[in-house]
Amino acid sequence: MAAVNYFHCFIISILFFLSFHTDTAFSQRCHPNDKKALLEIRKYLNSPPNSNLISAWDPRTDCCDWNQVVQCDGATNRITIFNLLLADLNRPIPAAVFDLVFLEELYFHETNLTGGIPRAITQLSRLKYLDLSLNHLSGTIPSFLGHLKNLVSIDLSYNQFTGSIPASLSQIPNLNTLFLDRNNLTGGIPATFSDFRQGEFFLYASRNHLSGEIPRKLGEVNFKLIDVSRNMLEGDISFLFGKNKSLIYADFSSNLLRFDFSTVEYFPTSLGTLDLSHNRITGSLPVGLVDLNLDRLNVSYNRLCGQIPVGGQLQGFETTSYFHNKCLCGAPLIKCK
Ligand SMILES: *[C@@H]1O[C@H](CO)[C@@H](O)[C@H](O)[C@H]1NC(C)=O
Ligand SMILES: *[C@@H]1O[C@H](CO)[C@@H](O)[C@H](O)[C@H]1NC(C)=O
Ligand SMILES: *[C@@H]1O[C@H](CO)[C@@H](O)[C@H](O)[C@H]1NC(C)=O
Ligand SMILES: *[C@@H]1O[C@H](CO)[C@@H](O)[C@H](O)[C@H]1NC(C)=O
Repeated sequence: MAAVNYFHCFIISILFFLSFHTDTAFSQRCHPNDKKALLEIRKYLNSPPNSNLISAWDPRTDCCDWNQVVQCDGATNRITIFNLLLADLNRPIPAAVFDLVFLEELYFHETNLTGGIPRAITQLSRLKYLDLSLNHLSGTIPSFLGHLKNLVSIDLSYNQFTGSIPASLSQIPNLNTLFLDRNNLTGGIPATFSDFRQGEFFLYASRNHLSGEIPRKLGEVNFKLIDVSRNMLEGDISFLFGKNKSLIYADFSSNLLRFDFSTVEYFPTSLGTLDLSHNRITGSLPVGLVDLNLDRLNVSYNRLCGQIPVGGQLQGFETTSYFHNKCLCGAPLIKCK
């Protein structure tokens, strides 16, 4: 019995040896630097194990085949995507991630990461998509993110970032999507954001503690979507409208905006959602609203007055779209006196 077992063991060892050597010596596409970094990440995240996908990485095999979390580029055989979703890491971002210098996409989405964004992230100069949303990341949003010139989209939403939005983000030439919602950000929206001259821009910054006026120069940015709801922003935003914009979705609700809405002559024809509720907006509803194909309009809880213009979608909205104003009247509210 013992001899059989011994023999069995011997055969397995030989097979093991062969497969290991075949993989490492002949057929591995994976770059040794990438493999080293990934094995460091595995070691760091495996104590205690908290991602089955990463625990499953077998050091004897080609890391280009570990395609659950990472993806190897077909031409260069370098790791270009690292995508971990839903894990309970409870520790800072693994430092070895920043040694995967060919990364173009980095996602740690809903992974309970803690700590801040380290400077080593600037090693990822090819990065296009960065998603660190739904974590417990804290500290400030570092201005060195502005060094990552290839970024197209940054998602830092649902974290605990504090401090102000770094002006340096405007130095990223092709950035078109910025998610900063649900953090504890303070200060204003940087005036440098007027440098965003991309064809279109998507800005999500709701549920922070942003204050001050939205800089007038931001009228030069072609926002497709702007959601800055639930902040403490003040002043006038009428310059964000205009005939020649392609704004589709605008949510400015629950701020401290104060301007005369009657002064807005033209709205972008693309506008589908406009929420201005819970502000201090005065004047009357501009007649230009009747020309729009709006799905949603909410101007409730302001200081508006006068007749709701007749036409377009305006009589189709619920009364709650208009209620709690100074003296708005006409359908769907009660008749004007
Ligand atoms: C993150 O941590 C919370 C609190 O411990 C836990 O309820 C949640 O399931 C964790 N998230 C994931 C994706 O494991
Ligand atoms: C974020 O702001 C909220 C409300 O002001 C506060 O209760 C919370 O402690 C803040 N969190 C951090 C991490 O600063
Ligand atoms: C479009 O808007 C910009 C910024 O407000 C303005 O400078 C420009 O003259 C407008 N162009 C047209 C054709 O209306
Ligand atoms: C408009 O906003 C107010 C305030 O947030 C809300 O109570 C109401 O339900 C909203 N109405 C519609 C139609 O969205």
